[in-house]
Amino acid sequence: MKEKIEKYLEEVASFSPANMEEIEQFRIKFLGKKGVINDLFAEFKTIPPEQKRDVGKILNTLKQEVQKKINELKSAFAEAEQKHFDKDLFLPVDTTLGSRHPISLVRNEILDIFKRLGFNVSEGPEVEDDWHVFSALNFPPEHPARDMQDTFFVTDDILLRTHTSSVQVRVMEKEKPPIRTVSPGRVYRNEAISARAHCIFHQVEGLYIDKGVSFADLKQTLLYFAKEMFGEKTDIRLRPSYFPFTEPSAEMDISCKICGGKGCNVCKYTGWLEILGCGMVDPNVLELNGIDSKTYTGFAFGMGVERIAMLKYGIKDLRLFFENNIDFLKQFETEL
Ligand code: DAH
Repeated sequence: MKEKIEKYLEEVASFSPANMEEIEQFRIKFLGKKGVINDLFAEFKTIPPEQKRDVGKILNTLKQEVQKKINELKSAFAEAEQKHFDKDLFLPVDTTLGSRHPISLVRNEILDIFKRLGFNVSEGPEVEDDWHVFSALNFPPEHPARDMQDTFFVTDDILLRTHTSSVQVRVMEKEKPPIRTVSPGRVYRNEAISARAHCIFHQVEGLYIDKGVSFADLKQTLLYFAKEMFGEKTDIRLRPSYFPFTEPSAEMDISCKICGGKGCNVCKYTGWLEILGCGMVDPNVLELNGIDSKTYTGFAFGMGVERIAMLKYGIKDLRLFFENNIDFLKQFETEL
């Protein structure tokens, strides 16, 4: 019996499994109910008493060795598996990284520039009421911007906002001056879709109200914005215009960044590109929103994000922003 046990000891010592499965078979073979160890203990009962000491000793050794071997092998395999797993995490993966949408990139850049000037960011609902989109912004009841042509109405009073100027009203309702805020968001207009117009687009609205805010502050703020956005060499010019909620009102052009102001087909040979509307907040608007127009003045501006993105990246068709063509979007990967 001793020789038999010694043979098993050799087998245990030289056992080298290829996988966990083989370790399990080994365990069953030796430690299972009908396994080698149990058989040997049964046989042990039958041997002459004078052999019992020696055989008992070696039999116990075998049992311990089997257990030790199984434990060692199991932890070695578990460790190897863990290493394999760790390594897998570093294997190149067959997926391409996404990129931010150019509209998000440009919107974030616009917001960052104004944040550096101390503006905070505010947002309002896209489904709005007449008060916030029109009435509180001094639109007279018969103003053509209320026409079905321009506006998607939900009911007589509820509509999809046609501009982010409505967020001005939301902010004035909640906050007392000084107010310095930029409001990004989606706007909706009942327009035929073309290379230059869409029924959905994005705007960023700006509002600054405090004591003693002047047109010079407006101009300097927008000049800073234009230079940060389009480069140090950029010039601006303000042309008189009309908006119900500002007085005086203006439209701002930047010097054409394609031809540097000499004239080309992008700026239609004028050397200038229109990028936003602006003006001094009409005292009526301040009063309609509970701000004393004798104490406070303010300026406001609003710009189209698509328009800025088209100029910045030289994109000629507005529809590209909404089609989610992978080849188009991929071009902005490096801008992350
Ligand atoms: N809301 C105007 C539009 O959608 C843009 C605008 C013009 C906003 C002048 C302003 C502003 O705040 O002062 O066309």
